[in-house]
Amino acid sequence: MAANVTVVDHPLVQHKLTLMRDVTRSTKGFRELLNEIGMLLAYEVTRDLPLEPVTIETPLQAMEGRQIAGKKLVLAPILRAGVGFLDGMLSLMPAARVAHIGIYRDPGSLRAVEYYFKSPSDLADRTVLVLDPMLATGNSAVAAIEQLKTRGARDLRFVCLLAAPEGITHLQQVHPDVPVWTAAIDSHLNDHGYIVPGLGDAGDRMYGTR
Ligand code: URA
Repeated sequence: MAANVTVVDHPLVQHKLTLMRDVTRSTKGFRELLNEIGMLLAYEVTRDLPLEPVTIETPLQAMEGRQIAGKKLVLAPILRAGVGFLDGMLSLMPAARVAHIGIYRDPGSLRAVEYYFKSPSDLADRTVLVLDPMLATGNSAVAAIEQLKTRGARDLRFVCLLAAPEGITHLQQVHPDVPVWTAAIDSHLNDHGYIVPGLGDAGDRMYGTR
C-alpha cells in the first residue's frame, strides 16, 4: 500500500461499501449508507487528534477529563458528491466548520474546473478534512487542496470512499504532506475516468440525477 494511505477495513465499513456498490441500491439507500460510512471514516481520521486536560465536576467530585485541543475542525466537501459525507460527519462533530469547494470535472478533458470557494478565514489554525467519495484521477482533490493551501491551510487530510491507484499516486506526487483515508483501493480507472469496479457516478447515485 502507498505510504500515508489508510484503508479503513472495519467490517461495518466494508459491509456498507458493498451495499453501496450494488447497482440495485436505491438513491435513498445509497445516500444513507454514504452518511453512515462518513461517520465511521470520521471516527478513524480523527483517531490521533491531540487531547488536553480539562477540570470538570462530576456529581461526586472534581476530576480532570480530556477534551480535543485546539480550534474546531473544518470539513471541506468538494461539491457535489463530497456533501454526501457531511451529515454523517457533522453528527459526530457538530461544532465543526464547513468549507464548500465547487469543482466539477470537465467530461472531455477530465480536468478540474473550479466555480465556488467559501471557507472559514482562519484555516491556518485548523485541521481540514477534504471530502470527496471518489479519488479517481486526483485532479479535483489536487485542485481543492491547492485552493485550501493558498488560503492558509497547513494541516490537511483527504477522506474518500473509493480510491484508484492512479488518483493516489497523483495526489501524493503533488501534495505528499496530505494523508489519505479510504474504505478501499480499487483496480484502475477506465477510459472515461471511472473507478473500476467502483460504484458508478457517486453524485448521480446520491441525488438520483441519472
Ligand atoms: N467520480 C465518480 O463519481 N465515480 C467515479 O468512478 C470516478 C469519479
